[in-house]
Amino acid sequence: MGGMTTDIKLIDENGRRVDGRTPEEMRPLKIEAGVLKRADGSAYVEWGLNKVLAAVYGPRECHPRHMQNPTRALVQCKYNMAAFSVDDRKRPGPDRRSQEISKITSEALSHVVFTEYFPRASIDVYVEVLQANAGTRCAGLTAASVALADAGVPMRDLVASCAAGKAAGVVMVDLGKEEDNFGEADIPVGYVPRTKEIVLLQMDGDLTHDEYTKGLDMAIKGCEKVYDIQRDALRRRYEARSLDSEIGAPEGVQKEVA
Ligand code: CDP
Repeated sequence: MGGMTTDIKLIDENGRRVDGRTPEEMRPLKIEAGVLKRADGSAYVEWGLNKVLAAVYGPRECHPRHMQNPTRALVQCKYNMAAFSVDDRKRPGPDRRSQEISKITSEALSHVVFTEYFPRASIDVYVEVLQANAGTRCAGLTAASVALADAGVPMRDLVASCAAGKAAGVVMVDLGKEEDNFGEADIPVGYVPRTKEIVLLQMDGDLTHDEYTKGLDMAIKGCEKVYDIQRDALRRRYEARSLDSEIGAPEGVQKEVA
């Protein structure tokens, strides 16, 4: 991001991007809920060339015990990139980047989970990136949120996530790999559509105030599209059951902590 040069034409003479998209167009997004038998909840996301799995365990007793909060549950995300997920083999294990993404994902999800219902508990969220092509934190947060709902964890709403940014001087939504590598800026956003709250906002690179405002607006519009696809995935999963009662009526889905 910022500074790297390339011969790739990030915007052609017709205003189209490397993969033929318009600046307002997102990459294709597919979400499936409930893909793993052993987890309490799970989701699989394919977003462009990104492939991400999320699994949720809990609420369950928090270990180690000194981490327990007597008034609420901890939402603990572990984001991991598979060694084979990127062009150059990714060295296995946590690094600064994965720790940062784990932290911001945990914080974004903590805003929507009714953590006060589960004192001393932990809700563990695992995000595994199987294939990466820019935007994996947004794909991971989107998948994690569906996996939490699939696990029946009571939530105020889903978190939908999408980025916007700037490449070749053009503000655009949902940057692809080349745009991320050679573009000027990237703003990943996590959004709660029901309350219109922003629960994740980062910025990499430089933007003017107007570009930032335009980018944020594009990212939020992207989040709203992501939200529809998340809800469709949950609707399919629960078939006849209404999604609104699932995430809006915590009494019905509240789980007992062991
Ligand atoms: O994935 P996201 O855009 O949320 O995070 P990033 O740190 O901006 O990374 C952008 C992209 O760089 C990733 O999606 C990967 O495609 C790539 N990457 C990589 O090739 N090797 C890494 N160790 C980390 C990221």
